[in-house]
Amino acid sequence: MNRVLLPFPPQRPLAQAMAPTLHARVGRLDWRRFPDGESLVTLDAALDGAHVAIVASLDRADRISVPLRFAADTARELGARSVGLVAPYLGYMRQDARFHAGEAVGARSYARFLQQAFDWLATVDPHLHRIRTLAELFAMPATQVSAAPLLAQWIRAQVRDPVVVGPDAESAQWVAQVATACDAPWLTLRKQRRGDRDVAIDTGADLALLSGRSLVLVDDIVSTGETLVQAIRQLQAAGPRRTCCLVIHPVFAQDAYARLRAAGADCVASTDTIAHASNAMSVAGVLAQACSAHFARHEA
Ligand code: R5P
Repeated sequence: MNRVLLPFPPQRPLAQAMAPTLHARVGRLDWRRFPDGESLVTLDAALDGAHVAIVASLDRADRISVPLRFAADTARELGARSVGLVAPYLGYMRQDARFHAGEAVGARSYARFLQQAFDWLATVDPHLHRIRTLAELFAMPATQVSAAPLLAQWIRAQVRDPVVVGPDAESAQWVAQVATACDAPWLTLRKQRRGDRDVAIDTGADLALLSGRSLVLVDDIVSTGETLVQAIRQLQAAGPRRTCCLVIHPVFAQDAYARLRAAGADCVASTDTIAHASNAMSVAGVLAQACSAHFARHEA
């Protein structure tokens, strides 16, 4: 077995945690930016005959995508037999429709861009909404794993009397799974997004069950934080004892994390799909299992 994980610098701890399960070594991937903003990517030179997986979180996708492409091309030039992509966070998935005439459907274009360079993809809870499956986007083998069991485990260990709440209808897919796995009641709210930072939340449901219990808001992505900030504001009147936000992908644009805390989140916990101070759960185990099958197929 000659498996090499090449993580971008923020994903090095994640790759190191995945490596033992995969019987892989973690190689070097350095990324330096020149004063003019262009990138220099330098890889481990000993890749001849190896099966490689580049590990890169695709938040700030515009910034990382050119160096990512250089890394994949260079791995092949250095003799890698296959090159996979482990993208714990898959960017551009929320641009899944042409919302206004003439707009790019980023999810589709970005998928085409990625599969020009990679043989396979493994990711965590991609934002599948109007596009229902990864197979609708990618011709290459693409596997998604779920962080829901990790979130459920965290709630069991950390929260007394939880009520799990999703901020919008599409969050039902994660919220139901998490709540069922930790035997907690759950509900979803209704959201209307009028602009990047203009979100209205309508609680709709009977919130009496929140009184005196722990509110656990669960969302797949926090970007501006506006969705969870508005949800917290709407739910405070129901009298929860404590408010926690559980986030799969902590994108946290600009001051989003600080705003969430200021809005009344007593705790914010996230998975390490994106490196952030709030990381409290690791997807290393579930991602390693998904990668194992991809490596094995190329080694056969
Ligand atoms: C919605 O489509 C997602 O599930 C999240 O609710 C959304 O991305 C959160 O964005 P923001 O933090 O900018 O409100």
